[in-house]
Amino acid sequence: MKFFVDTADTADIADLAATGLLDGVTTNPSLIAKAGRDFIEVTREICGLVSGPVSAEVVALDHEGMMREAEVLRKIADNVCIKVPLTIDGLKTCKALTSDGTMVNVTLCFSATQALLAAKAGASFISPFVGRHDDNGFDGMQLIADIRLIYDNYDYGTEILVASVRHGIHVLEAAKIGADVMTAPPAVIRGLFKHVLTDKGIEGFLADWAKTGQAIG
Ligand code: E4P
Repeated sequence: MKFFVDTADTADIADLAATGLLDGVTTNPSLIAKAGRDFIEVTREICGLVSGPVSAEVVALDHEGMMREAEVLRKIADNVCIKVPLTIDGLKTCKALTSDGTMVNVTLCFSATQALLAAKAGASFISPFVGRHDDNGFDGMQLIADIRLIYDNYDYGTEILVASVRHGIHVLEAAKIGADVMTAPPAVIRGLFKHVLTDKGIEGFLADWAKTGQAIG
């Protein structure tokens, strides 16, 4: 499963990219606002930090406006992936851009039939929001399982990008279902490295090692 980080904080992105485990980045207008930086400038910087797809979201609601904004965004770098909302205009834009060889991430997906439409529109990625789904009394991971089943039934190439990930169990379940990608905030990704028994084990080994009085090298 590919790992994307869901942030526009370049320090976090650089830090996680240094692990070699980062496959891409997702941003959205809220994350750009949180970063407090110029959209184009910060997106350009992010595109230089990772070689994989960097999602940059349009804010226009109509097809023509989305195409105009996409034109600006896709010039930033070759690894820019245009993010469009799951609306009729968003999917029209998706169809036009992917037919032209541009990567598109269709965002704000909350049903398996919406995901089916995005695949038919040629989306590179579909982003079902599992956390927001759970928050509203639905089963986010069941949505991922349904989309996986439908995409496999028809061999759609659209990658399932599990979004709005809140904790490690979302990541675990996404991997068990066979999602292609997950995107999570930096803190959630860092949390995946941690286990209390790993820390305890290191502590015990180091205490015993100190008793040997030896050094390596
Ligand atoms: C995905 O691309 C979105 O940016 C993101 O995962 C939304 O997550 P949130 O529900 O935590 O805002």
